[in-house]
Amino acid sequence: MPEPVLVVDDLHVSFRGPDGPVPVVRGVSFEVHEGGSLAVVGESGSGKTVSMLAVLGLLPGATVRGSARYRGTELLGASQARLRAVRGAHLGMIFQDPMTSLNPVLTVGRQIAGVLRAHDRRLRSAAARARAVELLDLVSIPQPDRRARAYPHELSGGMRQRVMIAMAVANRPDVLIADEPTTALDVTVQAQILDVVTRLRREQGIGLVLITHDLGVVAGNADRVAIMYAGRVVEDGPMTATFASPGHPYTRGLLASLPRLDRRRDPVPIGGAPPSPSSWPTGCPFHPRCPLAVDACREAEPDLVALGDARVACSVVAAPSHR
Ligand SMILES: Nc1ncnc2c1ncn2[C@@H]1O[C@H](COP(=O)(O)OP(=O)(O)OP(=O)(O)O)[C@@H](O)[C@H]1O
Ligand code: SF4
Ligand SMILES: [Mg+2]
Repeated sequence: MPEPVLVVDDLHVSFRGPDGPVPVVRGVSFEVHEGGSLAVVGESGSGKTVSMLAVLGLLPGATVRGSARYRGTELLGASQARLRAVRGAHLGMIFQDPMTSLNPVLTVGRQIAGVLRAHDRRLRSAAARARAVELLDLVSIPQPDRRARAYPHELSGGMRQRVMIAMAVANRPDVLIADEPTTALDVTVQAQILDVVTRLRREQGIGLVLITHDLGVVAGNADRVAIMYAGRVVEDGPMTATFASPGHPYTRGLLASLPRLDRRRDPVPIGGAPPSPSSWPTGCPFHPRCPLAVDACREAEPDLVALGDARVACSVVAAPSHR
């Protein structure tokens, strides 16, 4: 297998809180391969966005430790100039909210051209504008020449999200991190946006990290999945195998809460609420909500252990008697 493009290893992120450091990400590891795709799934507050921002060096004020290597070069602790260069050319990110990420007073064509010229100062403005139109076409925006002259508020949510994708892939990154790229969109537009992202990955060999709280969105759009809970990865493995036989009780809960087209049974939501970083539960952080919890689950936090093709952090499911 080729060397991964991005390797994140034992990433920890904490913020300063009134009573001391608040550990938000607690030992996250994942890999992204050239042209491969990883879905990162978890409820709100599980640390998905913070993990990616930490990797990209976009979390001033946070304490970050561990390792994040892009083609062997360490990003954590690198200079801002170096990180800017890597972000501009190699790691693209689509942020959670396209409206706040676009500049309302510039046409989308100028904004895309700006991204291109920031990376290549010799690029003339006419050439940058022409390339911006090509990029709008690449993300399937109809009449790209006319749309390049539109301001963000003149476009629909789905169109704005396509513009964000065009900006993120403008300089042909090796890895695209898409943070909830479809959350605010209706189901049909969601599918169209995911099609665009998946097509770019295939055609351009871009490694994809697709972040979402909705496991239903990622089926068919990623090869591998990492399930996050309380700032950790609690299960990772191939997408199809994870869907077919989830290991961790939280993953099982996420799957059971999805509406099913075959309607053989109604969706069952996971009981209780996601925990907060300022008061993670002791032991396994899922124990207050877990239908399989035993007393020992309150004591020690389980590590990820191999279970078939997957890795699962659950001492009950991983116990030899349970397999
Ligand atoms: N700058 C910050 N300072 C302090 N705490 C923060 C900061 N940014 C995020 N957090 C906290 O870190 C935790 C993880 O946040 P994060 O945004 O990564 O969650 P998420 O998994 O992306 O959730 P969502 O699905 O809602 O986007 C949350 O509890 C959040 O309140
Ligand atoms: S370790 Fe215990 S509480 Fe945690 S997921 Fe497994 S069974 Fe549930
Ligand atoms: Mg988020």
